[in-house]
Amino acid sequence: MSIQSDSSVPLSSNKHLLQWVKKMADICQPKSIHWVDGSQSEYDTLCAQMVQSGTFTKLNEKLWPGCFYAKSDPNDVARVEDRTFICSLSKEAAGPTNNWVDPFDMRRKLKGLFDGVMHGRTMYVLPFSMGPVGSPMSEIGVQLTDSPYVVVNMRIMARIGISVFKEIDKQEKRVVPCMHTVGMPLNAGVKDVPWPCNAEKYIVHFPDSREIWSYGSGYGGNALLGKKCFALRIASNLARDAGWMAEHMLILGVEDPNGEKTYVAAAFPSACGKTNFAMMIPPDSFIQKGWKIWTVGDDIAWIKPDSEGRLHAINPEAGFFGVAPGTSVKTNPNAMASLAKNTIFTNVALTPEGGVWWEGMTDEPPAQCLDWRGQTWTPQIAKETGAKAAHPNARFTAPASQCPTIDPRWEDPNGVPISAIIFGGRRATTMPLVYQAFNWTSGVYTGATMGSEMTAAAAGTIGKVRRDPMAMLPFCGYHMGDYFRHWIVMQKRLTETPRIFHVNWFRKDDHGKFIWPGFRENMRVLKWIVDRSRGRALGRETPIGWIPRYEDIEWDGMDFSKDSFDQLQSFDKAAWRREVMDHEELFLDIHDRLPKELIYERELLICRMG
Ligand code: OXD
Ligand code: MN
Repeated sequence: MSIQSDSSVPLSSNKHLLQWVKKMADICQPKSIHWVDGSQSEYDTLCAQMVQSGTFTKLNEKLWPGCFYAKSDPNDVARVEDRTFICSLSKEAAGPTNNWVDPFDMRRKLKGLFDGVMHGRTMYVLPFSMGPVGSPMSEIGVQLTDSPYVVVNMRIMARIGISVFKEIDKQEKRVVPCMHTVGMPLNAGVKDVPWPCNAEKYIVHFPDSREIWSYGSGYGGNALLGKKCFALRIASNLARDAGWMAEHMLILGVEDPNGEKTYVAAAFPSACGKTNFAMMIPPDSFIQKGWKIWTVGDDIAWIKPDSEGRLHAINPEAGFFGVAPGTSVKTNPNAMASLAKNTIFTNVALTPEGGVWWEGMTDEPPAQCLDWRGQTWTPQIAKETGAKAAHPNARFTAPASQCPTIDPRWEDPNGVPISAIIFGGRRATTMPLVYQAFNWTSGVYTGATMGSEMTAAAAGTIGKVRRDPMAMLPFCGYHMGDYFRHWIVMQKRLTETPRIFHVNWFRKDDHGKFIWPGFRENMRVLKWIVDRSRGRALGRETPIGWIPRYEDIEWDGMDFSKDSFDQLQSFDKAAWRREVMDHEELFLDIHDRLPKELIYERELLICRMG
């Protein structure tokens, strides 16, 4: 497919879309409009233009074929949760865990901000499908943006272009309008910069009218609106209303030696290894027996009951927007293979030979490179000043299709059947390596109360657990209590509920050392989870749920003593008393909409603890 000779010619005949584009162009006043066809030649042209403008550096074609490098403005490096708003009609509908502003006030504010905001820039009309185009489980959006960087990233992260316009022209699905601007009009005398943005930022969701408006940032989840804004915050509203679930979960398939596949979805808060888990390579002893992990997605799952009442999941995304630092051939060889070509790197370091580097990529750092701010970086400078070559939130945008373990069914329009759901967090104490909740409701309680310890970076707060229910705290687009109720109610739609588990790779011994090695060895835990879900593994009942006994875990190829395992799995009554008190704190915040099932679950847990 080649680029249209005149990209200002509309690629859709949908009159609602045409009217909306005109109305928004009247407000934003761009110098031109470009209808995005999604072709390779359009992508190549936009990338070449960004090389010209200084936004992109083309990487060494021999080392990094088809790859580009971008540095953001130092003030635009991550999602801005404190500038993220859920503007539902009532404050109560947004709930206490979201920032709420009256939608009428917010619209007035946005109208001012967007007035003439695209002066001197091109407005791209970017249609995207979250999920395979035409799948009954997919949803469609159109993003109007003045950022070509966003267009090329979205081409990797979602399905975009002509095929999506064709879906829009069928008028079968409601389209979510997404407005985006970097917030830097090129008014007279203003010179463009490689990374335009604005110090003021607004990431706004109108759940009632299913709209997204994003102002001032070009980075990640603030700007690639299909991801967190649509696929989680707006989709969580769509899902609640239509009886499905939009979750912050990876999806993987476990193939056993009989060639049977079991699909699992897992929710972990950030910095708990979701991408690594989704692309895990089992220990050699497992590989020899025929076990294999297949990747469906690493961040978001849309989960719906099929006509028989079994949950099926799709990954609504088409790429990985992964954190680069810490990713290496040792920690995640499949991620490294995924990003080896056709990838966009943002805020990593640039090496003299036109390659990229980040902390943790290799044991040996490059002798010299340009850091994410474009300044010279050497290991010596790092030693003296602590300067990082890559920003800690530096990212790679890589096509999922390039992942060596991508599941053959990853684009199945009907999704893959989900047999187990795993919740997890980073917990130095209290939480065993793994336990299985007694049933759906106790599993919902487990997810609703999950938390992760703050890292050493936040002085004075080490060990403090931050509750992050189902890893959705920053992503649920409505009241958390209603979200829990939705989980509870979902059971009524199912003939078979997935089994629910909780894992913790991060328990420490009395000397502060991790007890469990993690990474590939997590396969041993996953095997027990799969075996339990298929009714072929035993366990032992404890007050919190079912746990494996030492002999229920496959230890072939690993030397791990029963004593260490017992330590990992121990139920510490005093610690659990504190844990349950802590759950109460979360529940108090949302008490007016807390499902009574969760109150009963807490009571039952307390009773079982004796
Ligand atoms: C992400 C996140 O970028 O959860 O996936 O912050
Ligand atoms: Mn995420």
